[in-house]
This record gives sequence, C-alpha cells and structure tokens, in this order.
Amino acid sequence: MAAAKRLGIGVIGIGWVAREHIKAWKNNPHCAVVALASHSVANATSAKETHGLSDARLYTDWAELIRDPRVDVVDICSMNHLHVPQGVAAAEAGKHVLIEKPAANDLAGLRQLERAIDASGVKSLVGFELHWSPYFESIRSMRDNGFFGSIFYAECDYFSGNQDKWYQGYHWVKTREKGGGALPAAGCHAVDAIRQFVQSEAVEVFAYSGNFTRVMEWDPTIVTLIRFADGTIGKVGCILEGNVTYQFNVRLHGSKGTLVNDRFLTSFIPGQTGWAQFPTILPDTPEVSHHPFQAELDHLVDCIREDRTPTVDIKDAVKTHEIMFAAEQSAREGRPVKLPLS
Ligand SMILES: NC(=O)c1ccc[n+]([C@@H]2O[C@H](COP(=O)([O-])OP(=O)(O)OC[C@H]3O[C@@H](n4cnc5c(N)ncnc54)[C@H](O)[C@@H]3O)[C@@H](O)[C@H]2O)c1
Repeated sequence: MAAAKRLGIGVIGIGWVAREHIKAWKNNPHCAVVALASHSVANATSAKETHGLSDARLYTDWAELIRDPRVDVVDICSMNHLHVPQGVAAAEAGKHVLIEKPAANDLAGLRQLERAIDASGVKSLVGFELHWSPYFESIRSMRDNGFFGSIFYAECDYFSGNQDKWYQGYHWVKTREKGGGALPAAGCHAVDAIRQFVQSEAVEVFAYSGNFTRVMEWDPTIVTLIRFADGTIGKVGCILEGNVTYQFNVRLHGSKGTLVNDRFLTSFIPGQTGWAQFPTILPDTPEVSHHPFQAELDHLVDCIREDRTPTVDIKDAVKTHEIMFAAEQSAREGRPVKLPLS
C-alpha cells in the first residue's frame, strides 16, 4: 500500500510564534512545511534556513501561499487584524486552518470567519494551546474525579505588563487597528481557561476597564464578571500594564474543595488537614518556546487524518470570543450584556 501523502503546511506571518509552530510541524511525521509567507523576505529566508526547509516556497503575498496546491493546512501566525481575511480565504480555498488567537478582533469578523469555515467544511483549530498544558490537564482531571465537588466560583487571570521591554510584536499589538484590545491580544487565554474549568455556558457578562498608563491605544486593564447557565460565577482579570511580570492565576471554589493555582484543599481525600501542593508545569511564562504547541498541532493533524472535530474548533472559539466582545461592550456601555450575542 502506498504511504499516505504528508500534509503540506503553509505558514503565514513569520514572527515569534511562527518559529515555534514550524518546529512542532517538523516534529510531526505526517507533515511537511512547504510554504512560508511574510511581508519580510529576510524573515522568511532566515526561517527557511534556520529550520532546514529546503523545499519550502517563499511568498510575500499570503494569498499566493493559500493558492499553492501543495498547501493543505494554512497556519495563520500573522498580526491579529489579518486573521479574518486570511482565515476566510483559506477556508474558501478548501484548506484546513490553524488560526492563532484571537480568531478575530470583533464580532463582525468572527461571524464572517465562522460562516466561511462552516460553509467549506474544513477543519479548524484556534490557538488556545493551554488546552494541552499539563497543569490544565491536572485541573480538569481533579475536577472530573470530584476533588472540588460542584464548582460555584471560578477565577482566571492573565497579568503581563512591561510588554515594550520583551515583546517584539509590541509596536503593532498596542494599536487598536492591529492588536484589537486587551482580550484579543492576550486575556482571551484566561477567558478560554475559565470556560474549560466551568462546564456551563456563559449567559451574562459585566466588565469594567481602564487605561491607567496610556501605553496602549486600548484599555489594558479589564475585569470581567461572568454568570454561567448553572449559576456559577466567574471572574477574569486581564492586566497588561503596570509593573508586573507574567502571571496566570486559576482559582476554583466548589462544594468539596478549592484550588488556588498549584495548591488544593479537598474533602475528597479523607484526612487532608491543610493545603496540598502539586508539582506541575505551570503556565508561568509568556515565552512561546514553553507553550504546548506540539500537542496542539499534533491534535489538529490527528483530527484531519481521522476526520474528527478538533477540541477548540471555530465553534468552540466563538463562545470564548463572544464573552470577550460582550465584556468590551459592557465596559463601554456600563451595563450587563447577555449571551449569546445576536
Ligand atoms: N497562542 C499563543 O500563546 C501566542 C503567543 C504569541 C503570539 N500569538 C499570536 O500569534 C500571532 C503572531 O504574533 P507574534 O508574537 O508572532 O508577532 P510578531 O510580531 O513576532 O509576528 C507577526 C507577523 O507580522 C509581521 N509584521 C509585523 N509588522 C508588520 C507590518 N508592518 N506589515 C506586515 N507584516 C508585519 C511580522 O513580520 C510577523 O510575520 C498574533 O496573532 C498573536 O496573538 C499567540
């Protein structure tokens, strides 16, 4: 029997995150990186050489990469405001898509992307790689095994200030047009996280936001309260200004137990008299080489090969993005916003 053809991967936007994706694609035996698109020929050439992609074609126009018949999967690692047009074009060309977060900067773009992916039937995965974080896997397993009983309150925080000192994409991410806002730029990971831990749909959101340092065009501090259908109350803190190094907090309170980051207290374990700490790999750095991209990308490849729906496909990601956009609307208008958004 002939060996199955390897999936041709085309990567758009050869920056910080793309280089980690390329490493992960190269490690997957069912894939070959066949094309790179970047506005900067120097970036694309340097990635081609560094990663030994001798067969990869280089494009300065991403639309040409999408049209390349060797490309089966389009990996969108470009600036946030390009994710919708590139995702729509890829889906319309019948190419599977991995879209880095955010899928879109606003609701109109999100709907457009969702429609295009639905209509084409291609597989989609949106870049919430923390689904494959060992720490997140531990928490979900504790929850499923009854450590916390019935969860009634959950908090997730994404704190990361001083981005100008370490983030190469800072010049575009801080703009409203390209970065979008605090939740599209970064806090979306915390919104996605709270949805992973609270297994109920969000039905209402209230948020306050502020811009206290004026380093971003959008409000870099936004605190969102979420009411879930089962009554659970959630809170997502997102602070991208001030003097704070990266910190991702998770707190869960349930009828039988509580989790505070890597410590838990539970009556599920008889005789536990105080906080127990579980050693794990915490999501405690924004450094992309630390992120579980390998497991995320392998999952997409398995789903394509086995015709399964990826865990965080566009449909799932839409729910996270609706919370984000409802929070922005609530902060603007000073009132609660019901979900789903019409
Ligand atoms: N999932 C995660 O944990 C994670 C982590 C980092 C970044 N990301 C996402 O990945 C995407 C890329 O982010 P990044 O950190 O790699 O950013 P980056 O700035 O390093 O790269 C972005 C791309 O845009 C290009 N670019 C920059 N300025 C440009 C311009 N003026 N005109 C045209 N192209 C330009 C860069 O060359 C690069 O190809 C973003 O959407 C970001 O949100 C996700």
